[in-house]
Amino acid sequence: MQRTQVVIIGAGPSGLMLSLLLERQGIDSIVLERQSRPYVEARIRAGLLEWDTVELLEQAGIGPRMRREGLVHDGFELAFGGGHHRIDLKGLAGKSMLVYGQTEIQKDLADERERRPGAVVWEAAEVRLHDFAGDAPRVSYRHAGASHEIRCDFIAGCDGYHGISRASVPRDALREYERVYPFGWLGVLADVPPLSEELVYANHARGFALCSMRSKSRVRYYVQCPLQDTVEQWPDERFFDELAARLPPPHAARMVRGPSIEKSIAPLRSFVTEPMRFGRLFLAGDAAHIVPPTGAKGLNLAAADVRVLTEGLVAHYRERSSGLLAEYSARALSRVWKATRFSWWFTTLMHRFSEDPFEHKLQLAELEYLADSTVACTGVAENYVGLPFTAG
Ligand code: FAD
Ligand code: DHB
Repeated sequence: MQRTQVVIIGAGPSGLMLSLLLERQGIDSIVLERQSRPYVEARIRAGLLEWDTVELLEQAGIGPRMRREGLVHDGFELAFGGGHHRIDLKGLAGKSMLVYGQTEIQKDLADERERRPGAVVWEAAEVRLHDFAGDAPRVSYRHAGASHEIRCDFIAGCDGYHGISRASVPRDALREYERVYPFGWLGVLADVPPLSEELVYANHARGFALCSMRSKSRVRYYVQCPLQDTVEQWPDERFFDELAARLPPPHAARMVRGPSIEKSIAPLRSFVTEPMRFGRLFLAGDAAHIVPPTGAKGLNLAAADVRVLTEGLVAHYRERSSGLLAEYSARALSRVWKATRFSWWFTTLMHRFSEDPFEHKLQLAELEYLADSTVACTGVAENYVGLPFTAG
């Protein structure tokens, strides 16, 4: 039987980041990932990083390519009623965001993980967590036809919303809060120049639209769509027509169309688990909470959890102090709930929920109020760039 200090379930951004940050502090870990490395790296997901996330990734040892290729954004646009209003993130909240795709972060993290001591077991099947309510947890799995077991001090459940970690905790030990939204996001990736230098979030009577990007020659565009739609119902031409219809005319006129290189529909959900710890199992990232993508908070919240958990584990091993680990769940949840509120609010402000024109009028009134009020915009900017790590 193998032994390590921390077994990490899942090699998404939270699992790999945690493993690298621990390694930097002399703490051993083994990462068990169900999928292959190419599969994990091909998933098109987040694109927008808070500055604190950028700095944490640098502490984890990745950085030069992110700094070279990432695009610094000092603001974004809210489009509504045929016009638009810019939120000056840098001016109002003192911070910028970085456009750098999750696919690139995954590659950088896995490359760095391979350069450093410590293992990632890709394609680990039947991962099972044992005895984490007591002092001697174990994790078993199958790999290349053989059974394995690892003894450890702690287990970090970084295995996303559908993972095994949260599902292994007795039902009555966790409380779950959930809101499912009645629409999805249809996303398209295409190799054309972005229509604007900054992101554009559009509220339109036909539904929400978002113009994001991955580089100066690759766009990531989204439109709100019915949950039951399939990508086959959305050929590229229909997608771009619909996007153009939801943008202010000058934006639509600048839009360059091109063949999609990826197209997918994502459901929208708010979900929080409390607490984020059970015995010697700690949940982090999407395993513990999901936000609708509107505020671009998911990956950034995962990074914040990892930072708090690393601090707790370092204090445990270095100073023999369990205080920070005991506070992990409360510290992480304080930030999680604030980001959950912001993502819910931004989703509610920007999407079409019903046919009721009263609802749309209220949204437009709130957007006009934002456009007129520096104080209101400052609140949006503070939340968008990420609240301080120490809050709570
Ligand atoms: P995951 O990335 O889900 O990783 C979990 C890993 O665990 C996976 O590799 C999975 O294969 C593995 N796993 C699962 N079960 C098991 C098992 N039983 N055994 C072993 N391994 C297992 N966030 C942002 O911050 N900004 C954005 O702009 C943004 N945009 C988004 C757009 C879309 C369309 C979507 C869908 C998400 C977006 N997000 C965004 C959210 C972000 O992608 C997630 O929050 C992030 O991936 C969470 O990382 P994670 O490591 O916690 O979980
Ligand atoms: C992206 C996704 C988001 O949810 C968002 O708010 C901004 C950007 C993206 O995928 O690029």
